Amino acid sequence: MKQRVLLTGGAGYIGSHTYVALIEAGYDVLILDNFSNAARDVPTRLAEITGQSAAVVEADILDRASLDRVFADNKIDAVIHFAAFKSVAESVKKPLVYMQNNVVGLVNLMQSMDQADVRRLVFSSSATVYGNAADVPTPETASLGYGNPYGHSKLVCEQIIEQTIASDPRWSVGVLRYFNPVGAHPSGIIGEDPSGIPDNLMPYVAKVAAGQLPVLSVFGDDYPTPDGTGVRDYIHVVDLAKGHVNSLSALERDGQGHVVNLGTGRGYSVFELIATYARASNRDIPYKIAPRRDGDAASSYADPSLAKTVLGFEAEFDLFDMCRTSWVWMQTAAERAE
Ligand code: UFG
Repeated sequence: MKQRVLLTGGAGYIGSHTYVALIEAGYDVLILDNFSNAARDVPTRLAEITGQSAAVVEADILDRASLDRVFADNKIDAVIHFAAFKSVAESVKKPLVYMQNNVVGLVNLMQSMDQADVRRLVFSSSATVYGNAADVPTPETASLGYGNPYGHSKLVCEQIIEQTIASDPRWSVGVLRYFNPVGAHPSGIIGEDPSGIPDNLMPYVAKVAAGQLPVLSVFGDDYPTPDGTGVRDYIHVVDLAKGHVNSLSALERDGQGHVVNLGTGRGYSVFELIATYARASNRDIPYKIAPRRDGDAASSYADPSLAKTVLGFEAEFDLFDMCRTSWVWMQTAAERAE
């Protein structure tokens, strides 16, 4: 019998790529999404990639009755929980909304799972839980902290998970701390689709390369890094998706939970990313140096060794692959919009 996995936020950026990886790995998948930050036609596009129609329930994780109905109507073996808000800047303006959606949403989901006797969960966490003071490369044992309400919400979620596992050993949970997910499915059919002006570097660079935004602001060129710009651990979203499949099978195999970083272990600077994107797209990327952004660390990259030991996970794609697939996605998205 195929295992059936519920993907909350499964129509979003990381959720949709994980959907494809799970189908390829032989899982049966049900997407739950409220489409607040995902395009309505993502399920159709997923069907284009996988050759089979995608099962979707439109529901909100804040609506406990809807969640209960999903578990009552479907035999679910495990859940991967992506549905959350993720903008640092927006979280500073709307802390209560972030706590409600990210923290209350997780509590609702875990209560609903518990009631349905489903206690296998993979949770989308973030390197943001290391705060800004982390040593690099950062191991999972580094001290935890937060610098904004978004980071706080992810840290509280991790603590809720830890306390729940301590209270009931039937839970088995994989907590995945993502570094900087970028890139797109090589088909160009799905990718990151931020509404409005992107906060993050790669989608901003993509829009500048496509001529949709005039110039990139490089937030600081006086950091203590080799070229003075911020260094981050960019990881291809297709690699990240594979990490979720590995996490799920590790939970199935040994029933024991894990907390692991998903990164490449290699940092790239803003200037390196701009140069690589320019090469991958064959476009100019105009930029100007701007002041540092509040709360940004000089350098952040993972110690990826635990993911290798526990999940057998290693990222395969390099920065050029990330930029190239992002560019393919930008072009096909523009063709679709015509
Ligand atoms: N940057 C620019 N110009 C831009 C945007 C970003 O120069 O227009 C720089 C930043 O200063 C930083 C680097 O590009 O040095 C990466 O910035 P991102 O915003 O893409 O990513 P962050 O590392 O700041 O944030 C990411 C996630 C957050 C998460 C954080 C910590 O987007 O959700 O990592 O894990 F909280």
